[in-house]
Amino acid sequence: MRREVAAGRDADLALQRFAELRQRTHNGEANPRLVDQVIEELSTAVHELQASAEELSEQHERLLRSENRVSEERRRYQELFEFGPDGYLVTTSTGIIREANRMAAVLLGVTAANLFGKPLSVFVEVEKRAEFRTLLNRMKAGEMATETLETSIVGRGHPAFPAVLRVIAARSPRTPAVELRWTLRDVSAEHAIQRRLLAEIEERKRVDESLRRSEVLYRHLVEHATDMVYELDGDGRFTFCNNLATRRILGYTDRELVGRRLIDLVPRPHRKAVREFRKRQAEQPHQENYFEFPLLAKDARVVWLGEHATPVFRGKRVGFQAICRDISAQVDRVNQLTQSGEQWRDLSGHLQSKIEAERARIAQDIHDELGAALTAIRMELLLPSGGDRARASHSQRTAAVVRRIDAAIEAMRRICTDLRPSLLDNMGLCAAIEWLAQDVQERAGMRCEVVMQGFDKEPAPDKGMALFRIVQEAVTNAIRHAGASTLRISQRNNGSATIISIADDGRGIKTEQLSGRKSFGIVGMQERAKAFGGRVTISGSRRGTHVTVHMPTS
Ligand SMILES: Nc1ncnc2c1ncn2[C@@H]1O[C@H](COP(=O)(O)OP(=O)(O)OP(=O)(O)O)[C@@H](O)[C@H]1O
Ligand SMILES: [Mg+2]
Repeated sequence: MRREVAAGRDADLALQRFAELRQRTHNGEANPRLVDQVIEELSTAVHELQASAEELSEQHERLLRSENRVSEERRRYQELFEFGPDGYLVTTSTGIIREANRMAAVLLGVTAANLFGKPLSVFVEVEKRAEFRTLLNRMKAGEMATETLETSIVGRGHPAFPAVLRVIAARSPRTPAVELRWTLRDVSAEHAIQRRLLAEIEERKRVDESLRRSEVLYRHLVEHATDMVYELDGDGRFTFCNNLATRRILGYTDRELVGRRLIDLVPRPHRKAVREFRKRQAEQPHQENYFEFPLLAKDARVVWLGEHATPVFRGKRVGFQAICRDISAQVDRVNQLTQSGEQWRDLSGHLQSKIEAERARIAQDIHDELGAALTAIRMELLLPSGGDRARASHSQRTAAVVRRIDAAIEAMRRICTDLRPSLLDNMGLCAAIEWLAQDVQERAGMRCEVVMQGFDKEPAPDKGMALFRIVQEAVTNAIRHAGASTLRISQRNNGSATIISIADDGRGIKTEQLSGRKSFGIVGMQERAKAFGGRVTISGSRRGTHVTVHMPTS
């Protein structure tokens, strides 16, 4: 710029000098030096003018470029204004719409052209208009440069929606008046999200509260439970136990137990079983979960616990949560019962052998003394005496008495055999069973099949008697209760045991009769077998009853 001014000044000076030269030439005062000087100044001025003309044309080009940029920017801003995601509006300071973009038209339900000249307030829901007017007044008064209003907009043909209006007051580019520039945003989506968030927060609060309440309840229940509740970590150490019950059952406080290993409280002989149970539980968590084991209390008492436990998986380690009941009293009672049961069994065995011995003695006495006496009477009666007539009537009476005595001797023999089958002592168990079968066939009219393998070594007398009595009871039951037509008795050995089976084809014993409180015959069979380490199994079906005696040979 300075250069142009200088060039202008040089040109003015040269023109001045040129006018002076012309005057002097006209006056006849011009000399060649002056002419040269003026020509020199003129050519300098011409050069300066050329240079500034070039600079001017460069400036002109720059000006054109920046004008293009400005119009490009304007176009971009116009597009941004037109296609912006929010509604943009320009109103007069009284709120009359002068410009609106597409989104504003969409939100207000009126074309941009139709919006022109309408007051913006008509789109504000009636109840919110007072607020809107207050805002307009404050903007008009120039109190606020920018302002935000949360309101409710009713577009033509749309239901009302929550919206945020933001306004800025600015001087209009065309008129000296102040105009208001608005953005209009539909915030129904945000409101919906907000509502959902609020609902979620409410729900979470409710869940937290119910969790807190159930935690309190659970704590109360656990703390006041009569059973001991505890948790073990992966090393089998207590991480929790309910203080009251733990103190009552084991004498330890929870603080004394937390951190200690449960296995250290288990008496040594039971540790293996406890470890194996825990292992099984960890491997098959859904199977068995009840276990009974002893723990040493603080005062060294042995306390038996009945435990229900569940494995708790923490990463790769397995802990346990358990609830335990003190079952020491039950365990004591069971031990006492087992002990007294054993005592009763011993006593019953003892009594059985006494009874058998007594029976044998009675049978022997009856046989020896009563039998001998009856035989002597019989023989005396058979001896003849007196004349022929007397002899004839005597022999008739005698025959009748002898028949009675024979019947008495037979009855006596049977009683003796029932008391003590002498066959058993003389010929062994197989012969005695075969005799029994024969007797059943004759007396009860039931077909009786016997298949006996025999014994390598005859069972000891006591054991033989027990087996005979078991078979006898099974046979008697078949006759009395089965309504059977056939009875099969078989005996075989399987190396370590003798197996005798008695099967009838009657109505079949019922399950409830097997364990009936009055089934003393069955209990007697089982007890007799148990006394020698054997067992009796009985099953019934529509095809009959099957009794099996399994008796170890040694
Ligand atoms: N072979 C069988 N067939 C069908 N029912 C049977 C048979 N054996 C036993 N029972 C049923 O089982 C019950 C119990 O038998 P158990 O021998 O214990 O007692 P009992 O024969 O009735 O009396 P007890 O043997 O003391 O004289 C019988 O009352 C009978 O109802
Ligand atoms: Mg019976």
